Amino acid sequence: MENGRYLVESVANCWACHTQRDTKTGAMVGPHLGGATMSDEVNLKRTWAPPNLTGDPTTGRLAKLSEEEFVARFRTGRVIPGSPMPWQGFQKLREDDLRAIYRYLKTVPPVVHDVGPPYVDKP
Ligand code: HEC
Repeated sequence: MENGRYLVESVANCWACHTQRDTKTGAMVGPHLGGATMSDEVNLKRTWAPPNLTGDPTTGRLAKLSEEEFVARFRTGRVIPGSPMPWQGFQKLREDDLRAIYRYLKTVPPVVHDVGPPYVDKP
């Protein structure tokens, strides 16, 4: 669990994308790991939405994924082309690290915060 916290907060920086931050200052402005929206660096019409990683039953991605599904999802790698999430790098994470990450995320206070679908394209 401590290892999971270390990975999420210090090494893999999950919070940096999965917490809403001010686009200019980078300061966290939304609930910790409660999901965010961020613009695509190349496709200016696209907005990405790193999901809420808490276990909130309605808006939290972690409520919908079992530990086994979470590990399998990381083994699969990038599913949505162009996703900014560094899926390739994370494929190197060991299974016990992924389990520690999942268990740590389960301890983060659930927040109700719906960021919508993984990405949205403006017309
Ligand atoms: C550089 C930004 C970034 C970082 C860092 C990042 N993510 Fe993400 N994540 C995203 C985006 C954007 C999506 C939505 C697109 C997608 O599913 O690929 C996402 C999606 C997800 C999903 C949902 C996948 C699904 O199929 O529903 C999970 C779970 C997740 N991230 C967990 C994590 C964890 C755990 C970490 C740290 C180990 C992490 N993310 C680090 C940007 C990021």
